[in-house]
Amino acid sequence: MKSSVFLTRVVLRNYKSIGGCDVRLHPLTYLIGTNGSGKSNFLDALHLVRDALLGSLDNALNERGGLAEVRRRSSGHPTHFGVRLEFVLPNDGRDAYFAFNVGALKKGGYEVQNEECGIGKKGKGPYYSVERGVLKKSSEDTFPAITSDRLALVAVSGMSAFRPVFDALVSMGFYNLNPKLMRDLQKPQDGRLLKPVGENIASVIGHLERNAPGQIKVIEEYLQTVVPMVHGFERKAVGPMETLEFRQEMAGSLHPWRFLAQSMSDGTLRALGVLAALFQSNQDFSPTVVGIEEPETALHPAASAALRDALTRASSNVQIIVTSHSPDLLDDSDIDPESLLAVVSEGGETKIARLDSASRKAMRERLFSAGELLRLNQLAPDPEVLQDQERNQPDLFGSIRE
Ligand SMILES: Nc1ncnc2c1ncn2[C@@H]1O[C@H](COP(=O)(O)OP(=O)(O)OP(=O)(O)O)[C@@H](O)[C@H]1O
Ligand SMILES: [Mg+2]
Repeated sequence: MKSSVFLTRVVLRNYKSIGGCDVRLHPLTYLIGTNGSGKSNFLDALHLVRDALLGSLDNALNERGGLAEVRRRSSGHPTHFGVRLEFVLPNDGRDAYFAFNVGALKKGGYEVQNEECGIGKKGKGPYYSVERGVLKKSSEDTFPAITSDRLALVAVSGMSAFRPVFDALVSMGFYNLNPKLMRDLQKPQDGRLLKPVGENIASVIGHLERNAPGQIKVIEEYLQTVVPMVHGFERKAVGPMETLEFRQEMAGSLHPWRFLAQSMSDGTLRALGVLAALFQSNQDFSPTVVGIEEPETALHPAASAALRDALTRASSNVQIIVTSHSPDLLDDSDIDPESLLAVVSEGGETKIARLDSASRKAMRERLFSAGELLRLNQLAPDPEVLQDQERNQPDLFGSIRE
């Protein structure tokens, strides 16, 4: 079976609280760490890449308060931040990477200092390398005009050689669902990809009803495990707007009662949002990665097993990354110790790595589940990996190593 892993490796430099990180990702990766340790910052770095490609780098930075808020604040005063993503192109399985760093300019503002993209092993596939808005190397005979305040990948997305990279990176979805916005009447949209807080959920459900009724069934089954009274839902037009209508079983009533999203509980809406994020793939669109912030929020602990099952099932199709504080969600001895990344803040600097060897061993030997270790506050990053990263700072640039 084809692996669902899209992002194989993420290297970050000076992104918010993250001084440096170099991690491998799995079909399902859990980011675990105390409040303020830097879990959301990790997901946000990936989200910024998507935002900068789909809109503009300027917008992506401004939405985050500008470069000064995005690059790490520390006594060393780093002036730039950098991102390197290694991934597998979904259509043909070729390895690819995309890397850039953004630095402040003396006269104010910022520039993309370096940007590289390469498909396949060194020299084998399309590649380009750009320095401060100037093309240094490329496999292609022609190249569009580029400037140093934008990512060149946006400009080259019109070239068939690089289009697959662009398409794959903008198909990453990141979620922090907000029941309040899911309740509001929504403007009808194409609904191919669920938006970050669930603000287009009615369109997404409508799109699935038309294109992937099987996915609606899966979502309904899981939702019913979480909220047994709710038997189904559908997109409902309300004048020029739309919302969701839920069918709810009522004792003594022959027909289910119908409620609009406006009247549904926070937990029901959040659960539906998480499930829609997980199972939104359909024949004309499939996300490459789905990142979800704390999917357990507002859910009763008894729903944890169903949520875990949904995450695992979805991850056989699409790569999933979640942040979580829930020991109940992790209370399963089948969870692969390698799928957990421990996030800690040391003096305000975020460190991320796989679990230390003692925890991995305890989980492998089924002495403790990840959930039990989390309750005991025993999930720590592997000190050897962290030391190694400190000694040999990973390069942002250069083709993928064999
Ligand atoms: N530019 C920056 N430089 C240094 N540190 C930063 C920067 N921006 C944010 N931070 C730090 O990152 C922290 C927030 O990290 P983040 O939101 O990733 O935490 P989290 O692990 O998701 O926590 P929670 O579980 O509470 O959601 C802030 O407390 C702040 O200290
Ligand atoms: Mg967070």
